[in-house]
Amino acid sequence: MNFRLRPRRRIYEGKGKVLFEGPDPGTLVQYFKDDTTACNNTKKGVITGKGVLNNRISEYLMVKLGEIGVPTHFMRRLNMREQLIRRAEIIPVEVVVRNIVAGSLSERLGIEEGTVLPRSIVEFYYKKDELGNPMVSDEHITAFGWASPMEIDEMMSLSLRVNDYLSGLFLGIGLKLVDFKLEFGRLWDNDELHIILADEISPDNCRLWDVKTNEKMDKDRFRRDLGKVAEAYQEVARRLGIMPENAVFATESEKQK
Ligand code: TMP
Repeated sequence: MNFRLRPRRRIYEGKGKVLFEGPDPGTLVQYFKDDTTACNNTKKGVITGKGVLNNRISEYLMVKLGEIGVPTHFMRRLNMREQLIRRAEIIPVEVVVRNIVAGSLSERLGIEEGTVLPRSIVEFYYKKDELGNPMVSDEHITAFGWASPMEIDEMMSLSLRVNDYLSGLFLGIGLKLVDFKLEFGRLWDNDELHIILADEISPDNCRLWDVKTNEKMDKDRFRRDLGKVAEAYQEVARRLGIMPENAVFATESEKQK
């Protein structure tokens, strides 16, 4: 039976995405929802059209990163809300790279938001929603067997490469890449284990500020009730030159659930 007509097995449902079984072994279909959460899931909402935009934005950035040799799970976009990805074993560590102080770093250390860091900082968080994704060190990661020292080195160097490349790419369209979160997976290929970039890269997991006005163009608009959330995601897509046609977007209607 045609893959498109066959009922698909749901593998996992997260806050912003659903993973379905893919058409071939070792593949998954990643579906982007409009649902959004913040503040450890206590704040929930819907940003109409977000899934369509994040699917496009993440496709664009993953393809670009693939072109400079960063291995990613992305294979191809299937439609407005879905992309085909390689099935990897997700490493339960979130890697955050920061260039400018914002968010939890500002709160934790009492440093003013907007302070430019002397060098990029890489942080690790244990991917465990029930615990609110606590910050951990490489000692915790290796002691609890979440990743090996070699895998940590690989995640660090890939994250810094992604940071260098994306900082330049966003600067080219008038946006500062303040910080972002990456996830990685393990993939066996010809008996060799590889670390690949997984999840998504979008305004959901990046902070992007306008170069001239410092206006926030990312999920902080939702987290901090700044309004015009969908418009900010649209503007990022527009500046990247990938604004999808025929998409249905909210204007003043970022509905709070
Ligand atoms: P933070 O300042 O809240 O620690 O977030 C740093 C960056 O990482 C910011 O761009 C948002 C992103 N992030 C996620 O995408 N998911 C998460 O669970 C966390 C903690 C951060």
